[in-house]
Amino acid sequence: MNDLKNKKVIITGGTRGIGLSILKEFYENNSEILTIGSNLNNLDKLKIDFPNIHIQQLDLKNLEKLNNEFPKFIDKLGGVDILVNNAGITRDNLTLRMKQEEWKDVIDINLNSVFFTCQHSIKSMIRNKTGSIINITSVVGHTGNPGQANYTASKAGIVAMTKSLAREYAKKNIRLNCISPGFIDTDMTKDLKEEYKIELIKNIPINRLGKGVDIAKAVIFLASNNSSYITGETIHVNGGMYMS
Ligand SMILES: NC(=O)c1ccc[n+]([C@@H]2O[C@H](COP(=O)([O-])OP(=O)(O)OC[C@H]3O[C@@H](n4cnc5c(N)ncnc54)[C@H](O)[C@@H]3O)[C@@H](O)[C@H]2O)c1
Repeated sequence: MNDLKNKKVIITGGTRGIGLSILKEFYENNSEILTIGSNLNNLDKLKIDFPNIHIQQLDLKNLEKLNNEFPKFIDKLGGVDILVNNAGITRDNLTLRMKQEEWKDVIDINLNSVFFTCQHSIKSMIRNKTGSIINITSVVGHTGNPGQANYTASKAGIVAMTKSLAREYAKKNIRLNCISPGFIDTDMTKDLKEEYKIELIKNIPINRLGKGVDIAKAVIFLASNNSSYITGETIHVNGGMYMS
């Protein structure tokens, strides 16, 4: 049993992939959900499948708009108990070819937006004297990966930032943790070459790519009171491909 019924949850990027799996888990737990996405078509589809959740369009790259709109989303939901920062992008390139825009877009969406959604949510959580924030990082944020200097920097940044905020707000009964997925079968990884996937799986002791639901179950654990003594931690969900 957990305590997620009627809890107010904000999920970024809940329209597809891992975010959609997370959204479904909270939905099954009867939580009150607001999700943010950037793609109107995906958001419209979501409205049909989940008619009673709040769906907001916002490009998280636009930090000024985020800082204007996000507090309004919290008001719309009547506060926020749980924040899941899931939205993220890749813009891979080798370092010498990487354009300023590729570096900046990834840092803005994957790291800067996460800081500001945390900042706004923590204000509301302090008022409610409770809160749980789960930030989605990545295995490559721990190992590094050629062609992903921007992405790995953003994901490693999330881990350190989460620890700092966890130390700042533990006394206010607000917990912050990360989930670090390995390779999960979603749109983000669908374009990887088949030969690469076969090689990849050889290095995964559990012998398969992960599924969205593998991540979602870990998010539910960190969101609920079953993890009430855990903060500043990262749970690795990667089939054993990396053990910290
Ligand atoms: N798939 C993997 O193997 C894997 C591995 C490790 C970590 N992750 C992380 O998990 C998270 C989800 O990944 P996924 O595979 O489901 O990706 P995905 O591309 O399938 O979905 C990403 C989601 O983020 C949203 N999003 C992207 N840019 C946005 C923006 N500018 N504004 C608002 N929303 C935006 C999209 O609308 C979408 O809902 C990401 O943070 C990713 O870095 C994924």
